[in-house]
Amino acid sequence: MALDLFSAKGMPLDQQRFTWRDMVGKPISKLDDDAFTRVRIILMNGIELDALRMKHIAARRNRELRVPLAKIRRCEQHQATMINWLLGPDHSPLETTIAYEQVAIEVTAAVAQREPDPYMAQAYRFGLLEDFDHMYRYSALLDRLEGKDANNILQSYTDILPGRPTVVEHRAPEDDVRESYDRSKADQLTKLHALMITASEFQTHDYYMNIGPLFADPVARQLYAEIASIEEQHVTQYGSLIDPDESLLEQMLLHEAMEAYNYYSCVQQETNPRIKAMWERFLDYELGHFHMVAELFKQYEKRDPAEIITGPLAEPVTFASQREFVRQVLSQEVDLRANGTQFVDKAQESQASIDYRTQLNSAGSPSETVAAGYVWSPGTELNRRAAVAV
Ligand SMILES: [Fe+2]
Ligand SMILES: [Fe+2]
Ligand SMILES: [Fe+2]
Repeated sequence: MALDLFSAKGMPLDQQRFTWRDMVGKPISKLDDDAFTRVRIILMNGIELDALRMKHIAARRNRELRVPLAKIRRCEQHQATMINWLLGPDHSPLETTIAYEQVAIEVTAAVAQREPDPYMAQAYRFGLLEDFDHMYRYSALLDRLEGKDANNILQSYTDILPGRPTVVEHRAPEDDVRESYDRSKADQLTKLHALMITASEFQTHDYYMNIGPLFADPVARQLYAEIASIEEQHVTQYGSLIDPDESLLEQMLLHEAMEAYNYYSCVQQETNPRIKAMWERFLDYELGHFHMVAELFKQYEKRDPAEIITGPLAEPVTFASQREFVRQVLSQEVDLRANGTQFVDKAQESQASIDYRTQLNSAGSPSETVAAGYVWSPGTELNRRAAVAV
């Protein structure tokens, strides 16, 4: 049954409370929990951090909203803590990186198939082939640096193969800005998708920027720097799908709807009962936030929130392996490049992007170095070599 945001009232903000014990619970199991439980954890943490980011910017731009936004943000920060602290210390930062790319591949692939606007769907397919290649490069790094098989994290839901090579993903900034949807005509789901994937990519960017410098290995340090730069390109691409003519409160209302939609999707599909209870609790909280922002929207914009949220939410986001779809996109679209807002064959790529990356890669390419001769095999490269030696 689809979720109707106006009839579901949720929990009022002043009843949304936490304790440290609540927020810092027992982590999930790296190997025993389903990989999609981790996918949902990473996605929802990214979405909550984006909620914070957006409301901080909004508060800088609007005096009246400063106190109500501070109240909602406090809860969202605690939600993010409770979610993110579920990733325990048995995950190395590089293993968590593998999980981040799995989120980018599987969730973006699910969104691309559901997206009603063909141009937006193309943008999602374009981006996911790049994250698909990141997965391959990081898997080589995990194998060569830690002697671990990335498939232990992926649990066979996601292929480990080259995508659009990272070395050619570097584009001039003007070739990453896409056409936006039109706020007055776009489907409600198109708006939620753009906010959701932008949030997720932003978190990936920030994560790589934070952990990249912690590595001692020089190729690892360069690889994180290189892929973080692509994640900034992805944030630019996906963020540019959002209509910049939406008012602050209009976009915030959509953001709350997007958060509720995602928690709702998590509740429907979660297999770990303890985590499912948390998603249910946070769906209730988010509905409370939605209604609070809807009141602010009425009060300050003198408009009806039903103009923005025009009907029940779509069917839940699908959290499942999109392997067949990804393989098909890979075989048909790996040679696409960008020229301004358009996706073109590599023969028509913009000269600005070619010049940009020729310079950037002129002293070597970490993503090429790390994966030189790498073909994923179960149980790591070393295992394969030992087998050959016998
Ligand atoms: Fe990526
Ligand atoms: Fe990405
Ligand atoms: Fe929220």
